[in-house]
Amino acid sequence: MKLNENYSNLKESYLFSTIAKKVNEFSAAHPDKKIIRLGIGDVTLPLCKAVVNAMKSAVEEMGVQSTFRGYGPEQGYDFLKNAIKNYYAEKNVSLAPDEIFISDGAKSDLGNILDLFDKDNTVLVPDPVYPVYVDTNIMAGRKIIYINANEENDFLPAPDESIKADIIYICSPNNPTGAVYTKEGLKKWVDYALNNNAIILFDAAYEAFITDATLPHSIYEIEGAKNCAIEFCSFSKTAGFTGTRCGYTVVPHALGRLNKMWLRRQTTKFNGVPYIVQRGAEAVFTEEGRKEIQTNLNYYRENAKIIADTLTECGIKFFGGKFSPYIWLKCPNNMSSWDFFDYLLTNIQVVGTPGEGFGKNGEGFFRLTSFGSRENTIEAMKRLKSLIK
Ligand code: MLT
Repeated sequence: MKLNENYSNLKESYLFSTIAKKVNEFSAAHPDKKIIRLGIGDVTLPLCKAVVNAMKSAVEEMGVQSTFRGYGPEQGYDFLKNAIKNYYAEKNVSLAPDEIFISDGAKSDLGNILDLFDKDNTVLVPDPVYPVYVDTNIMAGRKIIYINANEENDFLPAPDESIKADIIYICSPNNPTGAVYTKEGLKKWVDYALNNNAIILFDAAYEAFITDATLPHSIYEIEGAKNCAIEFCSFSKTAGFTGTRCGYTVVPHALGRLNKMWLRRQTTKFNGVPYIVQRGAEAVFTEEGRKEIQTNLNYYRENAKIIADTLTECGIKFFGGKFSPYIWLKCPNNMSSWDFFDYLLTNIQVVGTPGEGFGKNGEGFFRLTSFGSRENTIEAMKRLKSLIK
């Protein structure tokens, strides 16, 4: 037996596990202190009524012999795939139902999709980046190269023809920086991928936060993208499914064998998302569901504004927060991102995510999320003001 030694090239633990451990240690040592968590991007509002009602009806169906369901299609039920197809049609993107694959979330699919690609591919990731893109490729022993996302390029790097990459990760709206590509910006990546026979893995998990009609929600809004991109999306942040688990991946037929390969992979290694959960996800697209999730998204948007206003008042430079639940701020007084993390935890018991955890360009930056409760967001900002101002 030989171990996969690539694992020894990983950092000791996953970023958000490291943070949770630090916070738990602090909490055990200071049980009287109230900690406010604005670190991991986990939602706090409950599932909306439309989703809950749909799931309740599905539970009832499962308890009656004539409507009971056992194994479902591994790639998802048609009712949900059709709802997603219609959602894309509104963005003038036409998809066939068998180009859509339902899963338990974008994180799993972003990792699992690598099954389809040879180890001998060069992976290009922007730095800073969602750590899953990097870690899953380290696990597979793939070569990773980085492209700088920084203040100079507004955290939206453009392709560099002198760099040759086979697999490219793009997340827009971006985790962690909140930056959003315009159609022109994405078009450059699509052109690069087409010219270089590369594939773009496009993470659209935060698309629902976009309110500017000119900004693309899907990479398929860009001409040619179906020939070079796989898109990942999720109900986690859109509709509060972080604990419920449901997402989807689009693998266009225009990508040739990849569509059939992904089907083969999923039917072999995955048993599908529970029927009850898929009915809940379907309800997100109903008129009532849409209204309700917008109410929740507006609540998080308002939290982002509260954070942004406080940072402005404190004279702290920041990015994001407008079309994203993430606010990416510059640590004051040139503090390192982990020092700032400790400073906030120790002095005001507010938890954020150190930028360094997202890559070397994240050093000196810090991420706060707008997914907290209103009360906690206000309280955290009050504490921050008293500490910094
Ligand atoms: C984050 O905080 O970056 C996200 O919650 C992580 C995730 O969605 O897996």
